[in-house]
Amino acid sequence: MRSVLASALVATSAAALLAACSTPAAAPAQVYLSIDADAVGTALAVSARTDAHARLLEAEDGIAVLAFDHEDLEALTAAMHREHHRCGGFMVHDSLDDARASFHARPERPPLDYTVDRAAVVAAVLPELDRARILGTIRELSAMPNRYYRSEAGANASLWLRDRWRSFSDRSDVTVELVDHGYPQKSVILTIPGSTRPDEVVVLGGHLDSINLGGRSRPAPGADDDASGIATLTEVTRVLLAKSFRPARTIKIIAYAAEEVGLRGSLSIVKELQRRKIDVVGALQLDMTNYQGSDKDIWLISDHTSAAQNAFLGRLIDAYVGASWGYDRCGYACSDHASWHRAGVPASMPFEARFRDSNRHIHTAKDTLETSGNNADHAIKFARLAAAYAIELGKGDLGPTEAATADAPASRHDAGDGTGATTRWLLLALAALGLAVARRAGRATA
Ligand code: BES
Ligand code: ZN
Repeated sequence: MRSVLASALVATSAAALLAACSTPAAAPAQVYLSIDADAVGTALAVSARTDAHARLLEAEDGIAVLAFDHEDLEALTAAMHREHHRCGGFMVHDSLDDARASFHARPERPPLDYTVDRAAVVAAVLPELDRARILGTIRELSAMPNRYYRSEAGANASLWLRDRWRSFSDRSDVTVELVDHGYPQKSVILTIPGSTRPDEVVVLGGHLDSINLGGRSRPAPGADDDASGIATLTEVTRVLLAKSFRPARTIKIIAYAAEEVGLRGSLSIVKELQRRKIDVVGALQLDMTNYQGSDKDIWLISDHTSAAQNAFLGRLIDAYVGASWGYDRCGYACSDHASWHRAGVPASMPFEARFRDSNRHIHTAKDTLETSGNNADHAIKFARLAAAYAIELGKGDLGPTEAATADAPASRHDAGDGTGATTRWLLLALAALGLAVARRAGRATA
């Protein structure tokens, strides 16, 4: 129920809000927050310090909506961590209507038929996933000064990732695009169109930005949060494309901008896809995959996610990953999966540890690879799960492999069951045979 206090405030601030709604969409000075009601005091106090005068507009069922100055967002993130120990999530919206939508998450779309019937494709893909490459990508991303959404380095990170993803394939049907949200950092989206069900979309995502809560100009390596997720997705994408994966459903791999300041990139992408009436049938979020802090390997976050899709992931882990897993909660909208969940899209977030055992160094200059022992042994399990998810939910098959890609393996392959090596040798042998036949045919016609 909407609180009386909040309704009164709505009336007094309605004119101001209308004026704010008509300002240009790009980087508005005023944004709207949906925030856990117990954190409203924190947000108002942050804003009072800068004389920005945030206003509480509405409140319902433990969620409040505020008008807020976007210049105060970092200070709010820092205060939320200091005072609520991450137990008060918030989302940042461009319009009051978008913020209001947080009062009622859309009902989830009817459950899909989560069949697991692509064992052969999964078996051909998983052994090619290479933990050394995940490690290398985390190293490169965390060596950037930061990936802060309003910095030049954060903007460069988008271009760097777009170029890396583009380099994986020269297939003309595979697109890589930058999404401009009105601030320097762009989201990056790679699309593999579906062959038989192109209108149904499967999303795999993570966030590209990083933050140092001690100050935006300080180093923010974000090795675990979330270079690990982006590097995991990057490796899955590389292998799916190297194996000429032709999904039945469309697959979108997304690196979201500006997650750390209120899920901004994902909220705007979800809104745009909804506006275009695009049917997203599932979303997987990888945010922090490389720090093993608990007894089990993979923790499925059970709040702001889909129970049906989480159960499907559990089956995929058992069938293909061979890792231990359990359920845990964030307790608030802790990452971009919540943007999808709120829109009724089945969303999941497989996480590196129990929430309380997760990496303590995130959002500081100490979020480096050292905390994960300078290896990607934990992240590789999430790469296997994400690849299995893309294949089993995307369906489809492998096409003829571009056998001798320039992208030679960096190290010995994982999983060690020899399937990858066997397939490679077989393809090379076939390619050689093809070449010999072509040569002979050439000689015959000469
Ligand atoms: N990766 C974190 C979320 C996280 C941290 C999950 C620790 C589980 C354990 C994410 O990037 C983040 O920092 N999220 C913010 C919330 C966001 C809405 C600003 C947070 O947790 O405060
Ligand atoms: Zn994160």
